[in-house]
Amino acid sequence: MSKYLVVGAGLFGAVFAREAAKRGHEVTVIEKRDHVAGNIYTKEIDGIQVHQYGAHIFHTSNKDVWEYVQQFAEFNRYTNSPVANYKGKMYNLPFNMNTFTQMWGVRTPQEAMDKINEQRAEMAGKTPQNLEEQAISLIGRDIYEKLIKGYTEKQWGRKATELPAFIIKRVPVRLIYDNNYFNDDYQGIPKGGYTKLVENMLKHDKITVELDTDFFAKKDEYLQKFDRVVYTGPIDEFFDYKLGELEYRSLRFETEEKDVGNYQGNAVINYTDAETPYTRVIEHKHFEFGKGDPDKTIITREYPADWHKGDEPYYPVNNDRNNDLYAQYKEMADKEDAKVIFGGRLGQYKYYNMDQVIATALEAVNDEFGK
Ligand code: FDA
Repeated sequence: MSKYLVVGAGLFGAVFAREAAKRGHEVTVIEKRDHVAGNIYTKEIDGIQVHQYGAHIFHTSNKDVWEYVQQFAEFNRYTNSPVANYKGKMYNLPFNMNTFTQMWGVRTPQEAMDKINEQRAEMAGKTPQNLEEQAISLIGRDIYEKLIKGYTEKQWGRKATELPAFIIKRVPVRLIYDNNYFNDDYQGIPKGGYTKLVENMLKHDKITVELDTDFFAKKDEYLQKFDRVVYTGPIDEFFDYKLGELEYRSLRFETEEKDVGNYQGNAVINYTDAETPYTRVIEHKHFEFGKGDPDKTIITREYPADWHKGDEPYYPVNNDRNNDLYAQYKEMADKEDAKVIFGGRLGQYKYYNMDQVIATALEAVNDEFGK
């Protein structure tokens, strides 16, 4: 039996730790934060599970992953149906018959398609040179200006005319009255919150969890002491930024308690105009069908932010520069550190949804222990 060190008590680390322990190995999980669950951490306030690092909705079409997580939590039937607020007017998302009716008063799929095609004609015969032109060529000016432009510019911190066209490859259009944001087979939120889900994964007599513990405080000692290390922190930090720093986009959250039972009537409202500085307002109790204090609610405003070293890295910026740099770090990882497995969104410098993180963690488990 081997001794494993798992660096990071997020989803990747927790799945790996659980599976290694299940196979009889001793696992120590170290986490530099004062809590487990990484970015899916939820904290209970006024009986409401507050998503501390951005709203998290579990959705997947991977049956194995869906069945896997059921061992650790019961999921509710939450279906993500965000609403857009553009200068006070509300539109359903994703773009579907409700949106088109609100936008143009059309009632049938044919009327909606005719309207979209009429609007797209503006770009007929032209090759889109930037994100703005690309979006207009795909969906037309009305939807672009009211529901895409401001939101995208806030997210990227740049004008849509300065962003490359390839960022938007397609704009999904649904010609039915269906506000379910995801097309996946399975969707929901773990009852009692994500933290409990991760705690249940880590609840095993062969797993020890040490919070407030930074791997880099004793890197050499850890590498010496353990047979194998699973590292889920930033890959460039592992190599002391030898080749340079990978870049991210960050977010700032502003959480507020309100003395009303129901503030906005939906879990997620997107603010799609350019003037409102935040992109989304989350009302956490609606993830759980109004649980918690009936006279109080918790909301979080989400502000996109530039990322500087030391800030929380949220979204990798997968441009050529960063992808090349990551490839070089990956090469170093493959060569230098046979003892270390790099995993998760930071270890692999990739945006992963939760189901993908679980799937990649289970793949790493198979690689390590065999099927
Ligand atoms: P994660 O970052 O969670 O865990 C890594 C852990 O390692 C952290 O806890 C960190 O503190 C720790 N660590 C790092 N360096 C360390 C060191 N030196 N020493 C010790 N510990 C260290 N997905 C989805 O399916 N549905 C959704 O709705 C959303 N929503 C969403 C919103 C926002 C704003 C973002 C940014 C992301 C999402 N996601 C999502 C994605 C989801 O957050 C993501 O898939 C998982 O959190 C990734 O889990 P990891 O374990 O890879 O990383």
